[in-house]
Amino acid sequence: MTDQTITSVSRESRVFKPSTQFKSQANLGSFASYQRLYRESVNAPERFWGREAKKFLAWRKSFGSVLKWKAPHAKWFSGGRLNVAENCLDRHLAGPRANKAAIIFEGEPGDVRTITYAQLHREVCKFANVLDSLGLKKGDRAAIYLPMVPEAAVAMLACARLGVIHTVIFGGFSSEAIKDRVNDCQAKLVITADGGFRRGKIVELKPNVDRALSATPTVEHVIVLKRTGNEVAMAEGRDRWWHDVMATASTQHKAKAHESETPLFILYTSGSTGKPKGVLHTTAGYLLGVTMSAHYVFDLKESDVYWCTADIGWVTGHSYVVYGPLSCGATVLMYEGAPNQPEPDRFWQIIDRHGVTIFYTAPTAIRSFMRWGDDYVKRHSLRSLRLLGTVGEPINPEAWMWYHELIGKKRCPIVDTWWQTETGCMMVTPIPGAVPTKPGSCTLPFFGVVPKVLDEQGTEVPPNAGGKLFLMQPWPSMLRTLWGDDARYKQQYWSELPGLYFCGDGARKDKDGYLWVVGRIDDVLNVSGHRIGTAEVESALVSHPSVAEAAAVGRPDEIKGSALVCFVTLKTGQAPTDELKEALRNHVGKEIGSLAKPDSIRFAAGLPKTRSGKIMRRILKELAGGGEIKGDTTTLEDFSVLAALKSDDE
Ligand code: WTA
Repeated sequence: MTDQTITSVSRESRVFKPSTQFKSQANLGSFASYQRLYRESVNAPERFWGREAKKFLAWRKSFGSVLKWKAPHAKWFSGGRLNVAENCLDRHLAGPRANKAAIIFEGEPGDVRTITYAQLHREVCKFANVLDSLGLKKGDRAAIYLPMVPEAAVAMLACARLGVIHTVIFGGFSSEAIKDRVNDCQAKLVITADGGFRRGKIVELKPNVDRALSATPTVEHVIVLKRTGNEVAMAEGRDRWWHDVMATASTQHKAKAHESETPLFILYTSGSTGKPKGVLHTTAGYLLGVTMSAHYVFDLKESDVYWCTADIGWVTGHSYVVYGPLSCGATVLMYEGAPNQPEPDRFWQIIDRHGVTIFYTAPTAIRSFMRWGDDYVKRHSLRSLRLLGTVGEPINPEAWMWYHELIGKKRCPIVDTWWQTETGCMMVTPIPGAVPTKPGSCTLPFFGVVPKVLDEQGTEVPPNAGGKLFLMQPWPSMLRTLWGDDARYKQQYWSELPGLYFCGDGARKDKDGYLWVVGRIDDVLNVSGHRIGTAEVESALVSHPSVAEAAAVGRPDEIKGSALVCFVTLKTGQAPTDELKEALRNHVGKEIGSLAKPDSIRFAAGLPKTRSGKIMRRILKELAGGGEIKGDTTTLEDFSVLAALKSDDE
């Protein structure tokens, strides 16, 4: 960024207040009590976090100090001892939660399994004994490369129980990605499966592991879950079947109490350039952040059936499929497959079948549903839903309103939660019974979070002016470092303005202090001297009745700095004509101003995405610039999309 500000062009003015009905049952039911707690959390953080840590977590040994902060390194709850798995399982076994469903699993082929807290506890104890018998010790690393099945949670919790650091590698990653991650953290063990079901097909996992492991000298053992039944090669002495090792494992396992800062997991996340960064999270602070935010933001009650559609390969799956909700004793729904398998109404079917009450998904999924048409939604009642959430990217007001009306039937609050792999838990989000929402805004900060929008000099910009988003104070669930690369940790997050956490996003705050995230700074373009968030252009395009999804990227332009190239997918039945291109350019001109009119619009059958649903703008940028795809494409979900885009080349 230069000293020019980000030109923010969104003009959304609708406000949705929490209903009296929702407030009256909410875990936090008034704006005043949110403000009171929030003020305490930022003005007297040690008092606030010290008290909440005792309230929300089960400790074996109480902590001495709350925070030791020597920027950019934090130690939270020093001297304390606890066990994450015990917090997620054992502490629920004393009362009626023992026989409550911890996980309701639905496989893509339709198989359903319900696992109670007592059963999950037994499985985790058994698997912890297995890991123990293979010689895994506290501090060792284990890689998990599994489909979205309950055993993924079992593996994570068993590692946590022992203090073995897990790194979950998303099941859609290639063998190259496995190799890099395993080698970076020097994992001793890989936990995988023969395959998983996705889009009616078997996604083979074990062959990818086999290929990766030809170049990973640290791996001693592989445990293989049988999920799909396809033939796999088993290496003698190295590979064992999950069901074999579990068959003889004891259900008794005494958990050790771990020091608060014991590493819990490493999760690799891509930066805009370079190799993936191994974000390190530790025990107590992380668990407190995810537990408290799940309690307040999802407003969890004993009777809820909570569904987060994220894969456990992403941070959302760590924090809000496994650790947060299980620590709260919630019933978590887990679904293995694709949203349009066998038909585009699978999610709505699942909601009705299992009585899902809380539904948390990504804006990109919402836009797909819009594209597939309202009829698929209208087939189902969705009566059980009471709260909706989104995460992962800015949600355009159009999609927000569709979600509100079609899915929430205007009765469910929507929590638009802004956070990152690095932040561990939600940072800026409405608390649904307390904070009025505005479509497209992630609203106000969660406890202990002080977000500010600053300019190059570190001065806070006035309301509605754009700038870079910083977090001004340390928080319990913050990343502690990048695995094996503390220098990069400092450089990446703490060097933009010394001592402040820079998240890489551009944002603005409106006059009410509501935060509007415009997207990554690298997705902010300079078009003729105006800085335009590509997300805003996309939002404008998507508000056109013919458009399903859009991605805007920059192409270097001698005169304008950047020219705006937009890739657009159309709703079913819309013809990709030149007239429509012109109409869309004018539509953006109308919505935002002619400065944002796309220089070129390209229709595409699909956009290249990661499996977490993020559009890979980097690839589109390379295509738009007319160049070769040079960067890493291992995180791409569907390679045929890329091939189609290339063959459509203008
Ligand atoms: C973006 C996912 C706007 C943002 C939990 C952030 C969002 C990056 C939102 C982190 C939101 C996430 N509104 N933008 N509600 N949530 N983002 O690490 O750019 O996969 O920096 O974590 O996603 O992505 P990550």
